[in-house]
Amino acid sequence: MTSEWWRTAAIYQIYPRSFADANGDGMGDLAGITSRLGSLEALGIDAIWLSPFYTSPQKDAGYDVADYCDVDPRFGTLADFDAMLEEAHARGIRVIIDLVPNHSSDQHPWFQEALASPPGSAARGRYLFREGRGEHGELPPNNWESVFGGPAWTRVIEADGTPGQWYLHLFDSSQPDFDWTNEEVREEFRRILRFWLDRGADGFRVDVAHGLVKADGLPDWTPPQGSGSMGGAGGVTVGEDGAGVALEPAISEENGDGAPYWAQEGVHEIYRDWRRVLDEYPGDRVLAAEAWVDPLPKVAKWVRSDEMHQSFNFAYLETPWNAASLRTVIDDSLDAFGSVGAPSTWVLSNHDVVRHATRLAVTADNPQGHGLGPRSKGIPEYADGLRRARAATALMLALPGSAYIYQGEELGLPEVIDLPDDARQDPTWFRTNGERYGRDGCRVPIPWEATAPSYGFGPTDASWLPQPAQWAELARDRQQGVPGSTLSLYQDALRLRREHDLGSGTLEWLDGFDADTVAFRNGDVTVVANTGSAPVALPGGTVLLASGELDGSLPADTTVWLRA
Ligand code: GLC
Repeated sequence: MTSEWWRTAAIYQIYPRSFADANGDGMGDLAGITSRLGSLEALGIDAIWLSPFYTSPQKDAGYDVADYCDVDPRFGTLADFDAMLEEAHARGIRVIIDLVPNHSSDQHPWFQEALASPPGSAARGRYLFREGRGEHGELPPNNWESVFGGPAWTRVIEADGTPGQWYLHLFDSSQPDFDWTNEEVREEFRRILRFWLDRGADGFRVDVAHGLVKADGLPDWTPPQGSGSMGGAGGVTVGEDGAGVALEPAISEENGDGAPYWAQEGVHEIYRDWRRVLDEYPGDRVLAAEAWVDPLPKVAKWVRSDEMHQSFNFAYLETPWNAASLRTVIDDSLDAFGSVGAPSTWVLSNHDVVRHATRLAVTADNPQGHGLGPRSKGIPEYADGLRRARAATALMLALPGSAYIYQGEELGLPEVIDLPDDARQDPTWFRTNGERYGRDGCRVPIPWEATAPSYGFGPTDASWLPQPAQWAELARDRQQGVPGSTLSLYQDALRLRREHDLGSGTLEWLDGFDADTVAFRNGDVTVVANTGSAPVALPGGTVLLASGELDGSLPADTTVWLRA
């Protein structure tokens, strides 16, 4: 394994609930992951990132942690984790785990102790308890809203049975925010980092890495219109004809960047501290930030040389399928991350966004976090969405830097639109009374074998979210070794990416191509993506990879890699 592997790595996100279920209870588990690692080795990825598998009441699918140093029985045991890690390492796959430092679960012993302790106690001081406003403290301490909808404060009942203080939760009421000015909290997270580093974890994806520190005095704040629900990135605006128009970030220097709970300067000292902890360990351990912050030069602050190694590039994820917008965001990304000596990252899908096989072709406004469901407008035909998604992936995997792949995108899975209301589990759905569908549609357990129960997700038919009947056709065994399948496209792209060192290459824009194309050279590979609706001329050279059939030209929504 080379040093600084993370600069060029292809990192595959596993959502443990939905990847593979060894015990047949309908929820994925660590033993399931271990049993399927061979498929990921064959796919050709360098590392996996696992969403949380810690002890948790699962009010937010595990992003509500009750014990940071144990495995939830739904997912297995610490021994299962060790076995999974060993198997991954034996296959040359690094393992990044999720760290959730902004908030715990309300079932965490610290929060339970805080509830049982009086106002002003040390136990309450680990979280953000405040007196309410109004004559009897009946109003929340400020006007902040939860990312999932509704107020960001919940009032507790004190030991004497009367309504008392309020606690802050930027997300669900079951996810109380820690007070990061408290040294005890800081020390506890150093301990948690060391616990997993000692076990051999290769790094951490840091949840809500822009949220830990809040402005002094917790001042009122009203977000600008159109803010995305993940607290930073707005929805992608899509033109009436389905072609994307410019990205509209909800939070930017101009339109009111300055939420007193996002991107406060104080977060950076925390990450410098963590970096010192990681640097005590051998073997290139990494920190990757989930920071929904805009614009890109600001995101780059998370990856200065003494902070984290990577930060997700949500500006790229939110860019519509439009050549001019893509060229701009690629330039901006390489500039911003390059200016601090960090690799750019690239990502199109994860467990919080509409799958890109659907999203890139949606023709109606769909703000981030709202999700899609039966009442949504502008849902594309599957084939149209997939065609565009394959072209977008082929473009992404040719870019220099590190790329993230979300489980199931290599099968061409679309967003599941028609989940029954009573199956939905995202707190967003409940906190907005069904006004926002939330994120369940990208979290449906993935298909492995077309004819097996639950398409091979587990040994039984059980699946915590229902799988669509059409997914038999998309099962891995139907695509493995089939030329032209989406799985083959991903496998070929990842192999070629490695063979041609595209991850460590340099991008050089090519002139003379149609305005609807993104055309560049990376080392000895020429890449042309046609985002328009008409075919364009295919340049000369040997075709290495094509995201769709080439008929002598480069058709709409198709990307090609050529060797000159
Ligand atoms: C991050 C996670 C998301 C979770 C939220 C609260 O954005 O990716 O799934 O709901 O944090 O922890």
